[in-house]
Amino acid sequence: MQVFAATILFPAIDILISLTGNKRKHIYMATKTAPIDLADSFEKIPVKIYPDLKEGSRFVAQQIADLIRAKQQKKEKCVLGLATGSTPKTLYAELVRMHREEKLSFKNVVTFNLDEYYPIDNKALQSYDRFMRVNLFDHVDINPKNIHIPNGETRKEAIKAHCSDYEKKIKEAGGIDLQILGIGNNGHIGFNEPGSGIYSKTRLITLDTSTRIANSYEFANISEVPRLAITMGIGTILQSRKIILMAWGSGKAPVIKMAAEDDDNEHVPASLLQNHDDVTFVVDEAAASELTRNKSPWLTGDCEWTPKMIKKAVVNMALKLKKPVLSLTNADYNEYGLSDLLVEKGDAYEINLQVYYLLRDSITGWPGGENLIPICLTTRNVQIPTRRKSSSSLPTRMMTSSAWAAPFSVCRTRDMRFMLATRPAGILPLPMNL
Ligand code: F6R
Repeated sequence: MQVFAATILFPAIDILISLTGNKRKHIYMATKTAPIDLADSFEKIPVKIYPDLKEGSRFVAQQIADLIRAKQQKKEKCVLGLATGSTPKTLYAELVRMHREEKLSFKNVVTFNLDEYYPIDNKALQSYDRFMRVNLFDHVDINPKNIHIPNGETRKEAIKAHCSDYEKKIKEAGGIDLQILGIGNNGHIGFNEPGSGIYSKTRLITLDTSTRIANSYEFANISEVPRLAITMGIGTILQSRKIILMAWGSGKAPVIKMAAEDDDNEHVPASLLQNHDDVTFVVDEAAASELTRNKSPWLTGDCEWTPKMIKKAVVNMALKLKKPVLSLTNADYNEYGLSDLLVEKGDAYEINLQVYYLLRDSITGWPGGENLIPICLTTRNVQIPTRRKSSSSLPTRMMTSSAWAAPFSVCRTRDMRFMLATRPAGILPLPMNL
């Protein structure tokens, strides 16, 4: 049986997995495997979604508190890897509250921060050294000797030694038990910018312009944002026993999708976390909005075809294919992954019609549609396939115009982010950014 498994079964599973395109990874730390529901999502990393950042932060704070207390009971040190930036602020506030109100002690806690600007005065307003003191360390009973933050005041000649010393100190502390991460819009973790390798260690790195722009709110202007930073490497982060990455807000939604669903690659450093076996993304609903299970749930498994879901799926398809809703064909439905809907409802024609009426009934006309962005349409006629003669007011043909909105009554639906050209008779969803 063992021979059968090794020679036939496992290779067969690998072939199957490579054919289906994803999921099984090289696991960086093969200790225990976090379950991923392959049926209901495309995520290769477990993603926990909370209604807002407060609830998400409370969950993470509880994880940290439980770990600290469990280690205290065993009279062990608890080694935490910590992040800075706007993402963990609420988490740190919650830990401070737990310290004050629930007697959570940090006496057995040892910390290693991910990164620091370089060069920077440790006392500077924008230094991560100061950030950590203001947001956490000054308010809890941690032993200052147990705090480690890359030193932005290190002389350039001494940086290499400083970085390898940082790695050594992490090892001497027994490794990081729990690493907390945020994520940059470009997918960086720590300051491991795109291109950082999976085996990278603590080092000096050049910050991406996008990162300097994103962080410029902390400085008087962009030219004051340091061009360099010291960061733990991705290899260093992956050595942690457990990793939690947090992300809040719709701005992080695209990169969360890329990191959790795309194949791992160095262009999105956070996607390299797929190679760890105990990593969780904790996000709010806004940051989860681009995940396929939310954006296109019909692609990830069984989906309840409510009218709202049908409208969402069909409008997405129409926008993607740049076709009016009424022109969509059975082949379009099949190719776009909506064959289930087709089977359930029977025919593209019926579904198109249903969505057409849903859209029509949600139009708010002028002046309700005031503040509209004038949209310029190219001249073209769109033929709508007719399946049968209908007594309804179903348009058989739709025209769009090259003129600015004036000749048409251009309207906006109440609940969707696109606009409709409604005259003479067709409906073509137009993305707002047209
Ligand atoms: C900072 C760090 C960075 C930030 C990231 C997101 O220590 O590790 O990777 O987590 O730049 O920053 P915020 O949280 O400000 O969006």
